[in-house]
Amino acid sequence: MRPVVTLFVATGAFFALCGMVWGIQMAATGDHTLSPAHGHLNLVGFVLMSIFGAYYALTPRAAATGLARLHYGLSVLAVLSLAPGIALAILGRTEVLALLGSFLTLASMALFLFVVLRHGVGEEGRAAMAPSPA
Ligand code: HEM
Repeated sequence: MRPVVTLFVATGAFFALCGMVWGIQMAATGDHTLSPAHGHLNLVGFVLMSIFGAYYALTPRAAATGLARLHYGLSVLAVLSLAPGIALAILGRTEVLALLGSFLTLASMALFLFVVLRHGVGEEGRAAMAPSPA
């Protein structure tokens, strides 16, 4: 199994490639109907995944935990349901997938907050968060 940092950054780059191809297709056809879905694929799929990856690269202590892998799985599921879910909602098919994706995205960010509070940021994060000795 690859390190969680590689998983986050590589998956983010893959989502960015998909989002860019989608953007080029929208620009070429002049049909921007699904641009909010494209925007969320790029922002949640690339920007957030890359920020999470950068955090785990800075904080190896957090990256070594099972929680980091759970965070990765949750984040991927969130993108895979949110972006197509928004497209389906715009097309008037169903809002269920977008709703599921919204809550998965929220859960992924809540888990990130928990991990940051638990492990701090960077090698010195935890020490910096601990009360200084009197
Ligand atoms: C090859 C690269 C890309 C192309 C060709 C492209 C193309 C487009 C097009 C044609 C639109 C619709 C604009 C409109 O209707 O006014 C759009 C919207 C948008 N794009 Fe991209 N895009 C690209 C990459 C990105 C990236 C990397 C991001 C974010 C990291 C991004 C975020 C957005 C957002 C937030 C919107 C607005 C969504 C909305 O209207 O709700 N795009 N893009």
